[in-house]
Amino acid sequence: MFNLEIIGSGVATLKNKYTNNDFKKFVDTSDEWIYSRTGIKTRYFTEDENTSDIGYIAALKAIEDANIDKNEIDLIIVATMTPDNFTPSCACLIQAKLGLNNKKIMAFDVNAACSGFVYALEIASNMLENYKCALVIGSEVLSKIIDFTDRNTCVLFGDGAGAIVVKKSLFDKKMLFYSNCIGDLQGKLIAENINKNGNFTYLKMDGKEVFKFAVNAMEKSINYILEKLNIKLDDIDLIIPHQANIRIIEYVCKKLNVSIDKFYMNIAEFGNTSAASIPIALNNAIKEEKIKENSKIILVGFGGGFTYGSCYIEF
Ligand code: UT7
Repeated sequence: MFNLEIIGSGVATLKNKYTNNDFKKFVDTSDEWIYSRTGIKTRYFTEDENTSDIGYIAALKAIEDANIDKNEIDLIIVATMTPDNFTPSCACLIQAKLGLNNKKIMAFDVNAACSGFVYALEIASNMLENYKCALVIGSEVLSKIIDFTDRNTCVLFGDGAGAIVVKKSLFDKKMLFYSNCIGDLQGKLIAENINKNGNFTYLKMDGKEVFKFAVNAMEKSINYILEKLNIKLDDIDLIIPHQANIRIIEYVCKKLNVSIDKFYMNIAEFGNTSAASIPIALNNAIKEEKIKENSKIILVGFGGGFTYGSCYIEF
């Protein structure tokens, strides 16, 4: 494994913003219920762009931010649970959209639901022995799999994409990953793409069960990093969690006895964008200068699978 240096980041800006009140058109709900139960006020949905379209926009922005020639990229990994196709993967489509088909590139998707970006980063880090410059993207068009007549789920999610460009770090900075999984045979968080009868099913979730899993997974993932590196939460400048529900973060804060200010949050604006939530939050925290040189941060993801994991990065 190699330490990564994040040399650029970018986010796709989507115009189609939905407020909580907009959902009253579809289901029996209220701004008060959604905001008090989740911390969500708005989210974005694409018009007709697919996952690779918005992933491509985020990738372009990250490449521009990194100030590199796009031809330097030789590895593209897209974390998504809503790919355009079974095949070709979003990573292959983004390679083509970037005009990099004449380059030697390895490109593939990773499906670890909301933990996908953390998983993809660990994979990239392990691959940097043989590759020089990786695009790691989290992109989701969850509106494709949302049942807009189910109030239990439709108000929670949004579409989005974030990307980073990473290279092997030349500096002596620490990095540590933790990835884990507890296979869910009961379908507590499931979106069947197409089953054997050729039927498509929308995303379904046992919210309470997933909530309990999420709190434990976050606590375990953060504690793993602290114990392995023999550091304390005071040594960490910022934690960027998967943005699923502000109450999950509040519970974790109580369990870890830490102020909520330690956690970066933008769920109010974006809702839950699954694999895109961490790269969007990471990009925004960098642009807002909440992450600067020498900052020590933890990314922590959890989601369908059930997957979970964390990543410690020194900037
Ligand atoms: O990213 C993947 C990971 N996902 C998560 O981490 C999600 C984890 N789970 C959660 O965030 C929460 O469980 C939810 C936000 C999904 C639900 O919150 P809750 O406090 O567990 O609510 P609940 O499911 O117990 O529902 C309470 C009530 C129910 O009514 P009754 O049966 O008590 O009459 C629901 O039908 O709230 C009702 N309800 C709603 N009411 C208005 C559910 N959704 C809505 C809604 N508007 N949108």
